[in-house]
Amino acid sequence: MSCYCSADAMPPTCTSPHFRPPDLPINNCRCYCTTRAAPQLGRCLPKEDDLFKTTRLHTMPQLLFGTASFGMPMTKFEDVEDVKGLLQTLRDLGINRLDSGARYPPPKPGRAEELIGEARDLSKDFIVDTKVYTDTKTDGSGDLTVEAIASSTSQSLQRLKRPEGVNVLHIHRADPFTPLEEQLRGFHEQISQGHCKKVSITSIGILFRETDDLSWGVSNVPIPMLEKMLQLCEQNGWEKPSCYQGPYNLVTRGMEKELLPLLRAHGIAFNAFQSLAAGFLTGKLVNGQHAGTRFGDDHPLGAIARKMFGGEDLLAAMKKFDRDVKALGLTPLEVAARWITHHSALGDDDGVLLGASKCDQIVDTVGIIRKGPLPDAVLPFVDELWDAVKETRAAIL
Ligand SMILES: NC(=O)c1ccc[n+]([C@@H]2O[C@H](COP(=O)([O-])OP(=O)(O)OC[C@H]3O[C@@H](n4cnc5c(N)ncnc54)[C@H](OP(=O)(O)O)[C@@H]3O)[C@@H](O)[C@H]2O)c1
Repeated sequence: MSCYCSADAMPPTCTSPHFRPPDLPINNCRCYCTTRAAPQLGRCLPKEDDLFKTTRLHTMPQLLFGTASFGMPMTKFEDVEDVKGLLQTLRDLGINRLDSGARYPPPKPGRAEELIGEARDLSKDFIVDTKVYTDTKTDGSGDLTVEAIASSTSQSLQRLKRPEGVNVLHIHRADPFTPLEEQLRGFHEQISQGHCKKVSITSIGILFRETDDLSWGVSNVPIPMLEKMLQLCEQNGWEKPSCYQGPYNLVTRGMEKELLPLLRAHGIAFNAFQSLAAGFLTGKLVNGQHAGTRFGDDHPLGAIARKMFGGEDLLAAMKKFDRDVKALGLTPLEVAARWITHHSALGDDDGVLLGASKCDQIVDTVGIIRKGPLPDAVLPFVDELWDAVKETRAAIL
């Protein structure tokens, strides 16, 4: 039995405290916990924490990196050399899957995919998902006609320099006008042309395409529309989406009630975005330290971010949470990152899309996640935070 997890794991077969065979990405392994891990049957049983009792046995969702920040002003990923540096870092951290979209970054649609393509010498070793273009100046009508899906996909593959296709091709946002049958036909045309097919990575880091495993996904699609889509897939013998991308974090947990059970019933994975609530859960906004961040006045997304996370109940609850967790020697960011990966409703078939505006942040966040489950003492504050905001935020999916 060997343990492939990172940092401080000390499996019986391992002589180095930092043992991890370089050819085994962390995401390929069942053992994700960190300090003093004792692997059992391929999983880790974290030992009791010295200060707090944490004895939960668990597996972890896959970590993906979200590339909406590639090419975005006020990030350190504006040019290809920076993106290459980040890809090297991700590789070292064992993250091998990128989430992109034709719409990224919001101020310069297409540039994120272009940068991934320009860094092809490194990005070729990553699994890449992308999304069909959506025009956010409209309500999405017409985004998902057969022609629009084909044109967006073809441009994405060119920008990504990925003629072999992507892993998952997603709907980015619902199209309320185009008939659903047509939308589904559009995705299945892309599948039949081999433009989206599940990609796996071997234990020695080689990408291969699974010939029978078709892959398309949905994001931000309301439940009634998703139900209708699933019904149509069943009636027509079409492949159902393999994953759903939606927001999920300490202050956005509406998906747990209806959406997640629906996805589970159909074998669809959930990939969580905004796991740090776009940075709100760092606590910088409520502490007035948000200049230069995504919530800053000069950030292209600043006004939107402040509106999304500006509710009075939310700000008050977050201030209290920030104080409470700091009194336990933790930071709100640490609680958010360890909660989504170790305590949330996500399982190891699901994923968490990590976001960052600079390389150091992703190293920091992954280091935090690798600390494993949170001390029990903080979990009541997590529930209290959600209870305080769910009346206004439970409908956000
Ligand atoms: N399908 C969709 O509609 C959709 C929507 C949103 C996102 N996504 C996907 O999900 C990805 C992640 O979304 P997100 O960026 O909103 O996720 P997020 O993880 O909630 O927020 C990322 C932001 O948190 C801050 N941050 C992260 N790590 C930090 C650290 N260690 N220390 C301090 N601050 C830290 C940074 O803020 P600053 O920038 O202020 O430094 C960073 O830009 C996107 O790139 C995209 O791929 C999809």
